[in-house]
Amino acid sequence: MSVFITGIAGFIGCNLARAMLGNGATVAGFDNLCRGSIRNLEPLEGHARFHFEKVELADLESYGRALRALHARSPITEIWHLAASSDIPGGPRP
Ligand SMILES: NC(=O)c1ccc[n+]([C@@H]2O[C@H](COP(=O)([O-])OP(=O)(O)OC[C@H]3O[C@@H](n4cnc5c(N)ncnc54)[C@H](O)[C@@H]3O)[C@@H](O)[C@H]2O)c1
Repeated sequence: MSVFITGIAGFIGCNLARAMLGNGATVAGFDNLCRGSIRNLEPLEGHARFHFEKVELADLESYGRALRALHARSPITEIWHLAASSDIPGGPRP
């Protein structure tokens, strides 16, 4: 299984990534680090089946390019879309 996770540096994303790796999956994910932290991914760095890229999902051109390249290297079989602004009091970004 090859899992793709958006918002992978966030609270749920990093824990899901760790669990999926533990289950034997290949895990790749994008995050722009606006609210998540690269520190959340430090325990996963260097894992042979883990790949992270800093990508802004709202930039559809670079997001599409990065996703196509990722899929060409390791065809994605499962997608978890977790990227979102979790800053509820702050509301949506302009
Ligand atoms: N944590 C909860 O209790 C809870 C409850 C209900 C729903 N959710 C939903 O689950 C998802 C994940 O929640 P979480 O608690 O892990 O939030 P989080 O803020 O910890 O993680 C979200 C991640 O998305 C990334 N992100 C946001 N906008 C992005 C963009 N434009 N491009 C790339 N990355 C972007 C952030 O940097 C962050 O790392 C969210 O959609 C949230 O609304 C969470």
